[in-house]
Amino acid sequence: MKILAIESSCDETAAAVVEDGRTILSSVIVSQIQEHRLYGGVVPEIASRRHCEAISQVTRNALDKASLSLENVDALAVTATPGLIGSLLVGVNYAKGLSYVTHKPLIPVHHLRGHIASNYLTHPNLKPPFLCFVLSGGHSHILHVKTYTNFQTLGKTLDDAAGEAYDKAARTLGYPYPGGVQIDRAAKKGDPSQYQLPRPTVQGRPEDFSFSGLKTAVLNHVHNAQQRGESINRENMAASFELAVCDMIADKLCKVLDKFPSLPVALAGGVSANDGIRQRVLDECSKKNRKLFLPRLDLCGDNAAMIGSQAFYEFQENNIASLSLNALATYPIENHFSNT
Ligand code: KG4
Ligand code: ZN
Repeated sequence: MKILAIESSCDETAAAVVEDGRTILSSVIVSQIQEHRLYGGVVPEIASRRHCEAISQVTRNALDKASLSLENVDALAVTATPGLIGSLLVGVNYAKGLSYVTHKPLIPVHHLRGHIASNYLTHPNLKPPFLCFVLSGGHSHILHVKTYTNFQTLGKTLDDAAGEAYDKAARTLGYPYPGGVQIDRAAKKGDPSQYQLPRPTVQGRPEDFSFSGLKTAVLNHVHNAQQRGESINRENMAASFELAVCDMIADKLCKVLDKFPSLPVALAGGVSANDGIRQRVLDECSKKNRKLFLPRLDLCGDNAAMIGSQAFYEFQENNIASLSLNALATYPIENHFSNT
């Protein structure tokens, strides 16, 4: 089954053709990062307008690269939630238009379910059940992936997402948006013992994250140094920040591994491209003799191939949308989306 998938939830306009949930026939991504960088973060209205301009050509390119025409695909898929509402609406309406003219089924996909599916594209033999840490710019979830379409949230962030903390800490240190990858690079050259940063926990909720205190601690260090007329060593601060994030993830990982003694683990989302985090989770998993699945680096960030992969499994469950499908800025990963 060939699915043409469209993703426009944030600042990447993407289209892909995926066969049977596991094989990428084409994947095209147009990023708007250069423009948003001027403002230090994503400007929602600009994002919607750029999606509007790019989406037809991106979709055409994805079909051309797969050597297919619209008639040759079996279904359409689109990210319907969560994300920037104006951005989502562009993709949803475009996909509805394609479904209307072709009479092909339209499959709505939850963006975080898509991130998890980037692992199905990377590891042909991976099947649920497994545990998954989804760490992105907008979300940080620890999930029990029971089946392809049945999820239980074991923990999540109560404030900032991991990627948000990376981006804000990077901004404080003067790195351009998006700062996650900049901190990743700088951390490799720094000494993590030079700055003492907190590892915030949430009282009574051992599996939940709280990243905002860590971000604020970086800000306080920088302000205090400025007031004393001193400067911060950016590489050392990046390394100290990354070690704190790794410690926080390792702490939650140990807790959920103990709760689910036989399940393998996967990472997903933009932050799962981080070298330090990948290595640390690998170390923790090998200490506990637990198998770890890491997504291909080019599938960690937003892309439409992961949406096409998840759509295949949604289709098996008959999760198909009508032409009154709407986009939602937020929606629980546990719930089906087909009837909204
Ligand atoms: O999943 P994603 O592409 O978009 C959302 O769904 O949010 O995640 C984007 C986030 C950004 O915050 C970005 O800075 C972060 O992922 N990111 C990284 C790295 N690459 C991307 N964070 C840390 N290290 C990286 N190498
Ligand atoms: Zn994402």
